[in-house]
Amino acid sequence: NFIISSVRTAIGWVPGQWLPGGKPDPLIERRAAIGRQASRLDGPEKVTGGARFAAEVAMEGLCYGALVHATITRGRITALDTGMAEHAPGVLHVVTHRNMPRVASPALIAITDPTAVGNSSLPIMQDDRVHYNGQIVAMVVAETQEQADHAATLLRIDYAETAAPTRFDAAKPDARIIPSLIIDANHCTVGNPERELAGSAHSVDAIYRTPGQNHNAIELHGLTVAWDGDALNVHDATQMIAPTAATLAKIFGLKREKVRVLSPFVGGGFGAKGFWDHQIVAVAAARMVGRPLRLMLSRESVYRIIGGRSPTEQRVAIGADAEGNFTALVHTGYSVMPTYSASPEAYTLGTRALYSAKSFEFLQRHLDLAIVANTFMRAPGEAVGTFAVESAVDELAHAMGMDPIELRLRNLPDSHPITGVAFSQHALDQAYRDGASRFGWDRRDPVPGTRREGEWRIGMGCASGSFPYVRMPGAAVRITLHRDGTALVACSAQDMGMGTATVQVQHAADRLGLPMEAVRFAMGDSDLPAAPMAGGSAQTVSIAGSIIVAAEKLTGELLRLAGNSSPLAGLRAGEVRLEREGIASTADPSRHESYASILDRANRDEVVVTATGTPPLEFFKHTMHSTSAVFCELRVSDVTGEVRVDRLLGSFDCGAILNPKTAASQFRGGMIMGLGLALMEETLLDERSGRIMNPTLADYHVPAHLDVPEIEVMWTGIPDPRSPLGARGIGEIGITGVAAAVANAVFNATGKRVRELPITLDTLM
Ligand code: MOS
Repeated sequence: NFIISSVRTAIGWVPGQWLPGGKPDPLIERRAAIGRQASRLDGPEKVTGGARFAAEVAMEGLCYGALVHATITRGRITALDTGMAEHAPGVLHVVTHRNMPRVASPALIAITDPTAVGNSSLPIMQDDRVHYNGQIVAMVVAETQEQADHAATLLRIDYAETAAPTRFDAAKPDARIIPSLIIDANHCTVGNPERELAGSAHSVDAIYRTPGQNHNAIELHGLTVAWDGDALNVHDATQMIAPTAATLAKIFGLKREKVRVLSPFVGGGFGAKGFWDHQIVAVAAARMVGRPLRLMLSRESVYRIIGGRSPTEQRVAIGADAEGNFTALVHTGYSVMPTYSASPEAYTLGTRALYSAKSFEFLQRHLDLAIVANTFMRAPGEAVGTFAVESAVDELAHAMGMDPIELRLRNLPDSHPITGVAFSQHALDQAYRDGASRFGWDRRDPVPGTRREGEWRIGMGCASGSFPYVRMPGAAVRITLHRDGTALVACSAQDMGMGTATVQVQHAADRLGLPMEAVRFAMGDSDLPAAPMAGGSAQTVSIAGSIIVAAEKLTGELLRLAGNSSPLAGLRAGEVRLEREGIASTADPSRHESYASILDRANRDEVVVTATGTPPLEFFKHTMHSTSAVFCELRVSDVTGEVRVDRLLGSFDCGAILNPKTAASQFRGGMIMGLGLALMEETLLDERSGRIMNPTLADYHVPAHLDVPEIEVMWTGIPDPRSPLGARGIGEIGITGVAAAVANAVFNATGKRVRELPITLDTLM
């Protein structure tokens, strides 16, 4: 959301399409490897332990860091005694604001500047000030991790506290409306929704609340840093490799080519594996001690200094006429975004493209609290926005005595409900029909509380999900075609577990007319051509868009090399295509020459091309969204209030599916995270101090194996004619809609409408 908005801000509203002439990608029709089930190429390395993650890289003379966090809300450090820590066994150095080098804070994240990736603009140990509870105030460096951890407990710190806002409700009168950057999330009114509501035959008007949430990737944030003179090598767990290298270069006053960030494997990111304070402190400390250094955050440190999802309070009001046609759709509310952060929780954005209505109002207000900067967390905005709006639709359907699927289908838009811009492809209706039939929706009893088995009440619910298509500008790739007919595709792409290399190998094989075995994909290294961050469910199509341009360049280069003694002589780039490990005339496929033959005759070992994708203009001309229909069946205990989810089904309309195996895994992973959102996850903030009270996996609950039912996924698979490969994003749509499907099923089971997440036992007793 943020990304789409910033890209629009950067480029302006320019009509255009992604291919010259607006032709769909030919690979939508001509697929060989793409669309086939393929196992992750990096799978064997991961399961055999060969993969080295950022905090596992071995180095001679490595030392270890441990962080010390502020324990006050806001204020100043008045006394700081590091003596005991410095004299503890193995301690090499204690970094505090007194000896930390003077460094600038990173620029706040913005697509308009690829080096701007900061989640917080606060100074990092530059003075004695504390801005939020948990902020880094010191780092101990020692010979072993255990010595560093121990010494970190020995600092004596006194503070002078000042008052600061930490209460959600109390901050409301000072809420801000962000005027320009987030143009989609701005205040937007169409018609007169309040008047329509008052005059509607049916209406619902309710407040929905969702809690703050923290990131819990299996791999903790961490990095291994080695200075080599004035060159900096960083193995970082990051979903933004090239931007991190650029940012570190800027902050430490180095030439960009002197900084290398390596991140071939990342153990989960979900939006949090970005640029935070700890990278800067670790890099500075490694220089101070003159040794390679590892800083792997503890789970508690991740909670303290890595932000998560903002809490929200949302009002959704819907008015409908007697037939169920929406006359008003209002979605407004509050979320937290401190002034020093840059991630608005854009919960109304998905709603804007979900339903048609006679009138609309959308408004997001931001609260400034003294807490760690919040950030993106899988489907920021949509994950919690759909909980509110899709619960409200269910409430309205129940009040009208109408099937909730029918009510939704009745109000599906033909084009963007606000802008009128046509969808590139939109088959949510089909996703609903296919999903409902596979799930057995007709077995649902519309009267709540009627299905029982012993102490268990059983119910079914459904909800829609929506996530915008994004393609990032400026992704560069390099293709090296070798004389032996193999190709290497390279860029600094990230893999947080989704199978980045696998899908791009499938893609490049088809694009170049090669078997998958002949293609390698190099990634995870900032020395390679710069890829944008992995975010916004955009990486696959962003890189694909660049490979398209690189393949065109390669075609021209090869035709030039082929010359006049080739069967291709006289053909131009537009008259050929890459197939059968070479080039063929489109009109006469018997005119074909293999890459090996062309390179042999030209006496070349390889041909190298580098290219950047075309600007992502397609989403200015078309409304492009991945959508889903989520179905849930669950049971609620009359005795304990416990919810057990029995079945979950996701029916997706996300364009072409490029690899059913990795895609199904993405969808399921997102849906499991959605179960956490619905039933468990909640950051407990002590509102007196702004301190997180449950910074451990023992206290902050996520779904475990026994919480996760049979999850079915299916998709329309209808290609999007406006995107590379016909694909849209799939990384974030999975979580979207799940919480509402669960809440709606809980209502169907019990007759209790829970409007606040998570739905814990106490809310149902
Ligand atoms: Mo995602 S929340 O853009 O990693």
